[in-house]
Amino acid sequence: MEGRLIAGNWKMNPRTLKEAIELARGVDEALKDLPIEKVIFPPFVFLTEVLRIVGNINIGAQNVFYEDSGAFTGEISPAMLKDIGINWVIIGHSERRNILKEDDETILKKVKRALEWGFRVILCVGEKLQDRELNRHKDVVKRQLDGLPDHENLIIAYEPVWAIGTGKNATPEQIEEMHTLIKDLTGKKVLYGGSVNPENSRELSMVKNLDGFLVGGASLKVESFQQIARSLLEFHP
Ligand code: PGA
Repeated sequence: MEGRLIAGNWKMNPRTLKEAIELARGVDEALKDLPIEKVIFPPFVFLTEVLRIVGNINIGAQNVFYEDSGAFTGEISPAMLKDIGINWVIIGHSERRNILKEDDETILKKVKRALEWGFRVILCVGEKLQDRELNRHKDVVKRQLDGLPDHENLIIAYEPVWAIGTGKNATPEQIEEMHTLIKDLTGKKVLYGGSVNPENSRELSMVKNLDGFLVGGASLKVESFQQIARSLLEFHP
């Protein structure tokens, strides 16, 4: 599982299946020759169609539940995702933690279950602005990593909440400090996420202990996503 990884988190975008297919086609073509791992995370309802039309990139889901089936209205199970051919999931994204109120315990259950099912799991961790201002960012992230199984399919994404969708990325020094901590604690691949764009990706890609990016907004444009992916190759420390 060597090498760097580019991941695109589409969140609740785009609005139509037609646009989703167009975007996935574009990304599939634009990234095809890059010798890094590539994965995009479209909304659940587009997964089947998107899977059908791509050939060069992996497709993942933005969330998954911890039970296989049953009375859990509105949830999607690991069994269902596996059945349609999905092998990647994001778990514990800060929007799920903060807007949908998922706690560390729920997230840990999801991670364990998804790993049992054989998914590659990207677990998101990261502190809020207040935590950083009070200098407790390391403690917050340590707590979010507590109890994690040591599994080869686990990847961590460090995404400081104050940098997500704000245009305010963390500095290389802040990223290096947190990635080193996460690597020391878990030994896993660590991605950075939070306002990564083609303007800052070159500088950020040189950070020590950075194994790739989890990109939100900029993954919705083929050109920017491709440029970010390229910088991971060109500017390897
Ligand atoms: P952003 O989102 O790149 O739009 O800041 C990153 C993420 O939430 O994964």
